[in-house]
Amino acid sequence: MNKIQLTIDGVEVTGTQGQTILEIARDNGFDIPTLCYHPSISKTGACRLCIVRVNGNMIKASCTEPAAEGAKIITEDAEIAGLRKGILEMLLAEGDHNCLYCEENGNCELQALCYRYGAENPAADFPKNKRQIDVTSSKGLRRNENRCVLCGRCVKACAEIQVQNVWQFDGRGSHACLTSDMFEKLGDSSCVQCGQCVQICPTGALSFQTVLGRGPEWELKKESSICIYCGVGCKIDFYTNKQGQLVKAIGNPDGPNKGHLCVKGRFGFDFVQGDKRITSPLIKRNGKFEEASWDEALDYVSKRFSEIKQASGPDSIMAFSSAKCTNEENYLMQKFMRAVVGTNNVDHCARL
Ligand code: FES
Repeated sequence: MNKIQLTIDGVEVTGTQGQTILEIARDNGFDIPTLCYHPSISKTGACRLCIVRVNGNMIKASCTEPAAEGAKIITEDAEIAGLRKGILEMLLAEGDHNCLYCEENGNCELQALCYRYGAENPAADFPKNKRQIDVTSSKGLRRNENRCVLCGRCVKACAEIQVQNVWQFDGRGSHACLTSDMFEKLGDSSCVQCGQCVQICPTGALSFQTVLGRGPEWELKKESSICIYCGVGCKIDFYTNKQGQLVKAIGNPDGPNKGHLCVKGRFGFDFVQGDKRITSPLIKRNGKFEEASWDEALDYVSKRFSEIKQASGPDSIMAFSSAKCTNEENYLMQKFMRAVVGTNNVDHCARL
């Protein structure tokens, strides 16, 4: 790969031929704002917030502009900051971007950029197109297109990451809007509820049902974990609110899943706080399950194992373990079966 040298804000940096200005700038710690750009999808070049000054007189979208040998880049000056503010105000004018009643308040790239550039909702009463609000048809996803900035990130995430092609654009210019399949409600479409479009959406246009009424974003606490559902080992960031309730699962880009999740990893955490969850051991007596203490339950299991082993041999017992347990617990289970019970009859749900 050929190396190239250029200057960003007066600092000499090195990049690789073919890289965009934005990629080299970010690799070298420069902060250029973006909205339609996302590293896990192909480049769109739609929002123009990433504009930079190139060689003094040209203003280019840095997310799509290949960096050239010897180029002199200015990431922001007064004119560029003013243009960015203008772009943001046009986006605000087009939709309904009231953070007060938006469930993504505090988790919105558009909001953060408006704060950064002092963008305000223009006083003039621009005619707005009423777009689709569909917050009930899908079990996992909410859609309020009046908060959409048509960046296309959801369209590309669905097409390029999940390869489901549910989202597309319809119409042109100010009449452009998103459609799921052929104008269907999201719940009636071919959406497989992976939630990648919500995770990648930079505004409140798409959100998870699970966040509604569970507190503001800035009160959430993040814990990174590994998905329990299969052997891939996807890395997930779980968010809990002040009451300790699980609110949402976001794919972590540092795992083998590179930030992507399937429907189970995304939404399969409700059992943790489910009211049907068994929280103490149960022993069946006279055909009915009764709650028991751990000591009682373990004594009972050990007594029955001994009786069965004596009557029918160790191979009449088997153990089936779960991906919901830790590696250490699974190791101990097979060790117990082999060394204590005396059988190799062990299996695991993730093998199937
Ligand atoms: Fe470059 Fe949108 S981030 S055009």
